[in-house]
Amino acid sequence: MTPSDKVTAPSLLASKGKRKIAMLTAYDATLARLLDEGGADVLLVGDSLGMVVQGLSNTLPVTLEEICYHGRAVARVTRRAHVVGDMPFMSFQVSSEKALEAAGTMLKQGGFEAVKLEGGVSVAEHVRRIVDAGIPVMGHVGLTPQSVHALGGFRVQGKGEDAAVRVVNDAKAVEQAGAYAIVLEGLPADLGRRISESLQIPTIGIGAGPHCDGQVLVCYDFLGMYREIHPKFVKRFAELGDAVVEATQRYVAEVQQGTFPAAEHSFGMAKPRTVGEPTGAKPLVDGSPPGYGPASDDGS
Ligand code: KIV
Repeated sequence: MTPSDKVTAPSLLASKGKRKIAMLTAYDATLARLLDEGGADVLLVGDSLGMVVQGLSNTLPVTLEEICYHGRAVARVTRRAHVVGDMPFMSFQVSSEKALEAAGTMLKQGGFEAVKLEGGVSVAEHVRRIVDAGIPVMGHVGLTPQSVHALGGFRVQGKGEDAAVRVVNDAKAVEQAGAYAIVLEGLPADLGRRISESLQIPTIGIGAGPHCDGQVLVCYDFLGMYREIHPKFVKRFAELGDAVVEATQRYVAEVQQGTFPAAEHSFGMAKPRTVGEPTGAKPLVDGSPPGYGPASDDGS
């Protein structure tokens, strides 16, 4: 990868009308490495981690510290993708000052390259303040999960003309405040098209139809691992949930039958040596062995 391959806020902005953006959520280093290798343009450490990592029923309890903790893991290993962090509930709503402080913390302690925050007209001033400090902001309008109680549940938004106009105005307010991209969640496909055509910045849809400038899915949804719910907008590109259950069943059976571990997974004893004879162990080049346990009999 050359430095010019690295996806950035300006390169995403410039992609509007040229190529579609493929964004996924990620919460840990192992999956982030794989999604980055697979070519995802953006990795979002979403506050959806409250539901898919922590097992909560909504995203509201997720904290700034938790977002930063997962951000560090993702940012540490991601080479090409643009890494964005979700501003948690109540980290930005109270005032522009608090919003700016929280966004700064996310870049300093979470390793993020940009922040995402939910809301439209009511948060436009916060967006402007953060952008003015040199921090790229991704907006998020339509179904905003942090307002789940006000919305009366996770419901499609903007279905009637008045409601649609409110979402359009929210999106425009966020764009005018300086956002470089915006997530459109849970909207009729026609409204997703209307907003995408009326903005200069790229729209990234989730349940907002095929006309957006990009798409985002929660990683455990698109891999078929989060099986509690299967919303209409989710397409499973793999069935890793089934694969994990099946692998676990085979592991349990092999442990119980004593067929795992076999000889090839076991270490031998050291050969008897005379005093002063070299051990044969390889010197450590950087002082720390790879992995989290010895890979071979000589401890290398
Ligand atoms: O929290 C999240 O994962 C999100 C995406 C679904 C857009 O906000």
